[in-house]
Amino acid sequence: KRLIFIGPPGSGKGTQSPVVKDEYCLCHLSTGDMLRAAVASKTPLGVKAKEAMEKGELVSDDLVVGIIDEAMNKPKCQKGFILDGFPRTVTQAEKLDEMLKRRGTEIDKVLNFAIDDSVLEERITGRWIHPSSGRSYHTKFAPPKTPGVDDITGEPLIQRKDDNAEVLRSRLAAFHSQTEPVINYYAKKAVLTNIHAEKAPQEVTSEVKKALSS
Ligand code: AP5
Ligand code: ZN
Repeated sequence: KRLIFIGPPGSGKGTQSPVVKDEYCLCHLSTGDMLRAAVASKTPLGVKAKEAMEKGELVSDDLVVGIIDEAMNKPKCQKGFILDGFPRTVTQAEKLDEMLKRRGTEIDKVLNFAIDDSVLEERITGRWIHPSSGRSYHTKFAPPKTPGVDDITGEPLIQRKDDNAEVLRSRLAAFHSQTEPVINYYAKKAVLTNIHAEKAPQEVTSEVKKALSS
């Protein structure tokens, strides 16, 4: 399966991806996770991306298209993939179409994690992540067994630099102006399914699985 998960910050894309990935043996390509890893290790890509990410603005189309094009060549992505947080502009969506055409494939489904903005601040400010795996927790909705510690590795959890109310406002503005048109782009191609992303995590999981089985 070749899938796209689209939705505002905190809508649950990163939470649902591992479940779907395991169920269908797909690779999970999160441009946000890949960019954060590049920033942490100060690669040339990370140096270019850091400022925009900290302000809650989008990184340039060329940079993210480049990382996705490269990642798709990985052997583990040949069975299929989940694109989490990409494409986020219509230009990225068009570039993705070209990339897939070159490989003789296309997107099977796009899940739109629809949710009201008002719920997102609590989700974002309560999030803690395990940086090397991308696993995320929430102090209220999905607490780790021991506060501040990853359940699986025992390593410390951290908060993302952009997970505060102020930067969230910019991220939401970017979503509404630049990413919402991408939802219409896929609606026209008749590959879009809307998910009620405000429900509890397990209910969202069932809805996602149902959408993918049809
Ligand atoms: P990115 O990392 O993609 O961030 P985002 O889109 O803002 O999305 P989030 O990761 O915040 O949300 P999520 O939907 O994954 O939420 P999660 O499941 O963790 O991008 C970061 C930055 O990188 C961008 O701002 C930009 O600068 C750059 N970038 C990335 N991709 C780019 C691109 N293509 N083009 C240009 N720039 C790009 O859930 C959030 C919290 O809520 C967690 O704590 C979780 O436990 C909890 N939670 C999840 N589901 C539920 C539920 N159902 N009920 C209650 N709590 C829940
Ligand atoms: Zn995410």
